[in-house]
Amino acid sequence: MLPRELIASRPSWVRRQISNDEVFALTSEIISKSCTTGIEVGVASGFSSAVIFSALSSVDEDALLYSYDLSRKCYFDSTRNTGDAFFEMLGERTGFKLSTGVTSSEIDLPRKADFGFIDACHENPWPALDLLAMSRFLADGALVALDDIDTIFRRGLRHTNGGRDLYRAWPGKKYQLDGVSGLGFLIYDRASMLRAIQTTFALDWDAHIHPDVLGQYMKILSRVSPLAYLKLFLNVSRYAGTRDHARRHASLLDGKRF
Ligand SMILES: C[S@@+](CC[C@H](N)C(=O)[O-])C[C@H]1O[C@@H](n2cnc3c(N)ncnc32)[C@H](O)[C@@H]1O
Repeated sequence: MLPRELIASRPSWVRRQISNDEVFALTSEIISKSCTTGIEVGVASGFSSAVIFSALSSVDEDALLYSYDLSRKCYFDSTRNTGDAFFEMLGERTGFKLSTGVTSSEIDLPRKADFGFIDACHENPWPALDLLAMSRFLADGALVALDDIDTIFRRGLRHTNGGRDLYRAWPGKKYQLDGVSGLGFLIYDRASMLRAIQTTFALDWDAHIHPDVLGQYMKILSRVSPLAYLKLFLNVSRYAGTRDHARRHASLLDGKRF
């Protein structure tokens, strides 16, 4: 389906979805980079899933999209399931693999992905955690789109700058398209991901993350890079300043309650 057909077929109940400009931007970037396997975090109605899946499928009819959302019910309309708009727009598709009631720590793919989309919790450091979890399945050179990197300009969302912080912290290749200010594109590489994770962790946190949940991501980091895990631990300990604080953070990073 073409972007303008997708926009025209969007169910009337859909809200808080990617903008029309973002529909065109995501489609053109996915197609120009010939992406065929995607990971999406933050599904809500499923409109963005339909857009991404359509673009991936126009590159390869065996395209796969793995989509994850914390909420089983659509967060703005509890009479709908998360992802319902996808099925209304495109019907059942074997290549669309939807998991709800989960965080990105559950991401699991049978092959490497060449596209990622992050549009879940926008509070720092959630987007960085989503990228970390995704990174286990991203090929070097994969395209990663970060949504809502301009929340600082939006009333009611100014305290949720995780997308912006991750985009700013990214030391590798990145770009935005003219006229699409909310969307940032990263060209994934492991070294940039590890540096960006450490930088975003050092910035102010918007989110209060339960130690058990944070512990799941720290476990992922310790597997992805034991050295980065250690550095992060040391930085957090140094920042906290005292031995007691260090102990407190140690149990936090290990995912234990304190
Ligand atoms: C802005 S909406 C996604 C909109 C969707 N991408 C679209 O354009 O149609 C954000 C979604 O992220 C989900 N979410 C929030 N925090 C999450 C987390 N930590 N992990 C996974 N999903 C989360 C919410 O349940 C919500 O459905």
